[in-house]
Amino acid sequence: MKRVVSVAPMMDCTDRHDRFFLRLISKNVMLYSEMVATKSAIHGDRNKILKFSPEEKPLALQVGGSDKKELSEVAKIAEDMGYDEININLGCPSKKVQKNMFGACLMKEPDLVAECISEMINSCKIPVTAKTRIGFDDTEDFNYLNDFIIKMKEAGCKTIILHARKAILKGLSPKQNLNIPKLNYEMVYAIKKRKS
Ligand SMILES: Cc1cc2nc3c(=O)[nH]c(=O)nc-3n(C[C@H](O)[C@H](O)[C@H](O)COP(=O)(O)O)c2cc1C
Repeated sequence: MKRVVSVAPMMDCTDRHDRFFLRLISKNVMLYSEMVATKSAIHGDRNKILKFSPEEKPLALQVGGSDKKELSEVAKIAEDMGYDEININLGCPSKKVQKNMFGACLMKEPDLVAECISEMINSCKIPVTAKTRIGFDDTEDFNYLNDFIIKMKEAGCKTIILHARKAILKGLSPKQNLNIPKLNYEMVYAIKKRKS
């Protein structure tokens, strides 16, 4: 199945209105929410933050966090609300996200990520997937990425979405992080070849 993780350049974020519109374009793609922080999903207004229309399905909730208990709670909430998949964001480079220890900075913590994924899997029956980048800062290395992916796979994550640019965690804004680090599709093809 094809996946639309974000069409941010068009609409800024895949909110429910954008996803309804996208569903008119394709019946088959898996659509993803924008990233929702675990604390917002748990303590925020769920009607506003998490509600969706059945027409949007199949639909995944993308979550940002690194607290195992919170992540597993959100995985259960996603399942109970009818989401088809829960996806952990391991690719967002923004300063605020780094300060809260989620997004791309978690690429530095493969063991923690594996534990988070494993707890999420234990708390729900829907697939737990991840979106990450090919590297971070000075690390754009096939073996590092491959080991990270193997670790997530061993934890039970069956689908990993790769953003084909590394994240520069210091000195670049999120916008610059979508242009300045060079696209490296070869790394993604090499990983896919190795895995399949
Ligand atoms: C304004 C904006 C918001 C984004 N929000 C998210 C997000 O919430 N979750 C996510 O996985 N990716 C997010 N992205 C990244 C996109 O999903 C996608 O990976 C990126 O635009 C691919 O561009 P590139 O291939 O040119 O690097 C966002 C991108 C932009 C521009």
